[in-house]
Amino acid sequence: MQYLSLLLGAAALISPVIAQTWTTCNPMNTTCPNDPALGLNHTFYFNESSTVTNSYNITAGSLVYGSNGTEFTVNKKGDSPTIQSQFFIFFGSVSVVMKAATGQGIISSIVLESDDLDEVDWEFMGGNDTHAETNYFGKGNTTAFDRAIYYPVSSDPRENFHNYTVHWTSSQLQWYIDSQLVRTLPYAAANGGSNYPQTPMTLRMGIWAGGDPGNSNGTIEWAGGLTDYSAGPYTMYVQSAQVNDFSTGSAYQYTDHSGSWQSIKTIAGNSTAAKTILKAETPTLSVAQRFAALPQQTKLAIYCGGGAAGALIIFAFLFACIRQRRAGRRERDAYNAKVEKEREEAYQDQMALREKGLGGWDNGAYEKQGEDALGGWGGSHVAPGDRAADVPPVPKLPSNVSVNEFPLRSMSPAIPRMGSPAFQTPLISPTPQKTWNGNAGGMIHNAGNSYSGGYGGSNNIPRSPSFAASAQPTQSNRGYPGGYSNNGGYSRF
Ligand SMILES: *[C@@H]1O[C@H](CO)[C@@H](O)[C@H](O)[C@H]1NC(C)=O
Ligand SMILES: *[C@@H]1O[C@H](CO)[C@@H](O)[C@H](O)[C@H]1NC(C)=O
Ligand SMILES: *[C@@H]1O[C@H](CO)[C@@H](O)[C@H](O)[C@H]1NC(C)=O
Ligand SMILES: *[C@@H]1O[C@H](CO)[C@@H](O)[C@H](O)[C@H]1NC(C)=O
Ligand SMILES: *[C@@H]1O[C@H](CO)[C@@H](O)[C@H](O)[C@H]1NC(C)=O
Ligand SMILES: *[C@@H]1O[C@H](CO)[C@@H](O)[C@H](O)[C@H]1NC(C)=O
Ligand SMILES: *[C@@H]1O[C@H](CO)[C@@H](O)[C@H](O)[C@H]1NC(C)=O
Ligand SMILES: *[C@@H]1O[C@H](CO)[C@@H](O)[C@H](O)[C@H]1NC(C)=O
Ligand SMILES: *[C@@H]1O[C@H](CO)[C@@H](O)[C@H](O)[C@H]1NC(C)=O
Ligand SMILES: *[C@@H]1O[C@H](CO)[C@@H](O)[C@H](O)[C@H]1NC(C)=O
Repeated sequence: MQYLSLLLGAAALISPVIAQTWTTCNPMNTTCPNDPALGLNHTFYFNESSTVTNSYNITAGSLVYGSNGTEFTVNKKGDSPTIQSQFFIFFGSVSVVMKAATGQGIISSIVLESDDLDEVDWEFMGGNDTHAETNYFGKGNTTAFDRAIYYPVSSDPRENFHNYTVHWTSSQLQWYIDSQLVRTLPYAAANGGSNYPQTPMTLRMGIWAGGDPGNSNGTIEWAGGLTDYSAGPYTMYVQSAQVNDFSTGSAYQYTDHSGSWQSIKTIAGNSTAAKTILKAETPTLSVAQRFAALPQQTKLAIYCGGGAAGALIIFAFLFACIRQRRAGRRERDAYNAKVEKEREEAYQDQMALREKGLGGWDNGAYEKQGEDALGGWGGSHVAPGDRAADVPPVPKLPSNVSVNEFPLRSMSPAIPRMGSPAFQTPLISPTPQKTWNGNAGGMIHNAGNSYSGGYGGSNNIPRSPSFAASAQPTQSNRGYPGGYSNNGGYSRF
C-alpha cells in the first residue's frame, strides 16, 4: 500500500491540521525520541473502549465497541477510522483475530510500522471473498515488485473471524493464517537484508476506501474497484490482538542512522505501556470491599489491636480475643506476617472510613455483629444504615471512561479530529497525480518507480505515478493507513 502515500500525499499537504497532528522523526537522518516499549506479552481484547484508550491512539475517525469487538466503519466518503499502538515492539509476534469489511474497494488492514518506515502488512480487499494480502517494506523502499503476495483463507475473511499472525525475528518474518504458516521471508531474501523490516514497530489497524472515486486508477484497481458508499456501511471487526514483544525494557533507541536491528538499543526499566496494562487489569476495590474481603482472623487481630481497644468492652468481643490469644503460638507466628500486612492496610482503610464519618460501631449495634464485627471506634455512633458494611462499593468506572495517563488526542482542542469538515475535505478527494508514468518517480529519489506491490507481481497493470521529489513523504513515519502523516498525507500502509 506504500505507493498510496505518494498518490494521496498532495491532498494531505494542503490540510491545515497535519503539522499539529503529527510529529515526524525519521531516525535514518536525525535523532529521534526513544520509542516507548511494550516489553511484555499481552492479549488486548477489543470489546471494551478502555483497551483502545489505554494503549492505542485513535489516529483517525471514531470507533464502536461491541460484543464482536471494536468496529472500524466506513459510513461515507472520507471515513478511515484507524488506531495506532502507543507502544513499540522490537521483534515479536502479533496475532489479530478479526473480520474484514465487505465492500468493493474497501481495505481493512493490520500493519506493523516503524519510525524509519519498515513495514509489515496484512490487507483485505472488501470485494475479495477468498484471499488476504501479505506485504512488507524496508526503510520505505518501494521499488520491488514481488513483495505483495495473496493467500487463501479457509472461509470468507469478511464473513468470519480469522487469526492473522505475524511472527517477526531478526532472521525471518512469517505470516500465519489460523496458525497455518503461509509465508516465510528470510532476512537475506529481502534484498540481502537491506529491505528487511528490523526496527521497533507500532501496531496499526484501520479501514479506508481505496476505491474512492477520487483516488487514482491504480489505487482503485489495486483496491478491487470503485467503492459504492450507498451500499455501506462497511465494517471491520477486531476482536483481539495478542502482542508479544520479544524484547523487554522501557524504550527502544536508535543509536545511529543505519536503521539496522543491531543499532537498536534496549533501555532498561519498566515500560509505561506495561504499567498501564497491569494497572487496568487490577480491579479497584473500595475500602469497604477490601475490609470485607479480609479473613476473619485478620479482622479479629485488628479489633484486638490498639485501634479497637478504646471503648469496646463487650463480653463477646473479649471472649473472642481471649480465644484468639489462646490459639497455638506456632500457628500464630506462621500467620503473623500476613496478618501484619493486612492489618496495616485495613487499619488505614478504617482510618479512611472514619475520616469520612463512616467507620465505627455503636455499642448497641455491635452485639448483632457477632464475631464478624468490624473493629469499632469508641463513641462514634453511626446509624446502622451508614455502617461500614453498608457503604456501597465505589462504582467501577464505566468502560468508556479512560483512565490512562496520556492525554487523549480526541480531548485536545488543539488537534482537530478526522470528523471536522476542514480535515475531511482533502481526504474526500485526494488529488490525483498529474502524470501516470510508471518509471518516472517514486518514494526514493532516482528510484526506478514507486510501484510498491499490491498486484501480486503482475507486470500487466498500471504502475503508480511519478511523484515530485520535493513532495516525497520522506518523513512520513507515524502515519497510518488511510490517514494523514506529516509530510506525505496518506502514509504508507
Ligand atoms: C532526511 O532525509 C530526507 C531525504 O531522505 C530529507 O528530505 C530530509 O530533509 C532529511 N532530514 C534531515 C533532518 O536531515
Ligand atoms: C512472550 O512470548 C514469547 C513467545 O511468543 C516468549 O518466548 C517470551 O518469553 C514471552 N515473553 C514474556 C516476557 O513472557
Ligand atoms: C471482553 O472479553 C474478555 C475476554 O473474553 C472478557 O473477559 C471481558 O469480560 C469482556 N468484556 C466485555 C465488556 O464484554
Ligand atoms: C455479532 O456478530 C453476529 C454474527 O456476525 C451478529 O449476528 C451480531 O448481531 C453481532 N453483534 C453485534 C453486537 O454487533
Ligand atoms: C500517541 O499520542 C500521544 C499523545 O498525542 C503522543 O504523545 C504519542 O507519541 C502517540 N504515540 C505514538 C506511538 O505515536
Ligand atoms: C481475490 O484475490 C485473489 C488473489 O489476488 C484473486 O486470485 C481472486 O480472483 C480475487 N477474488 C476476487 C473475487 O476478486
Ligand atoms: C530498494 O529495493 C530494490 C529491490 O529490492 C533494490 O534493488 C534497491 O537497491 C533498494 N534500494 C535501497 C536504497 O536499498
Ligand atoms: C493465533 O495464531 C497464533 C499462531 O499460531 C497462536 O499462537 C495464537 O494462539 C492464535 N490466537 C488465537 C486467539 O487463536
Ligand atoms: C482512469 O480510468 C478512467 C475510466 O476507466 C479513464 O477514463 C481515465 O482516463 C483513467 N485515468 C488515467 C490517468 O489513466
Ligand atoms: C520495575 O518494576 C518492578 C516491580 O514493580 C520494581 O521492583 C523495579 O524496581 C522497577 N524497575 C525500575 C527500573 O523502575
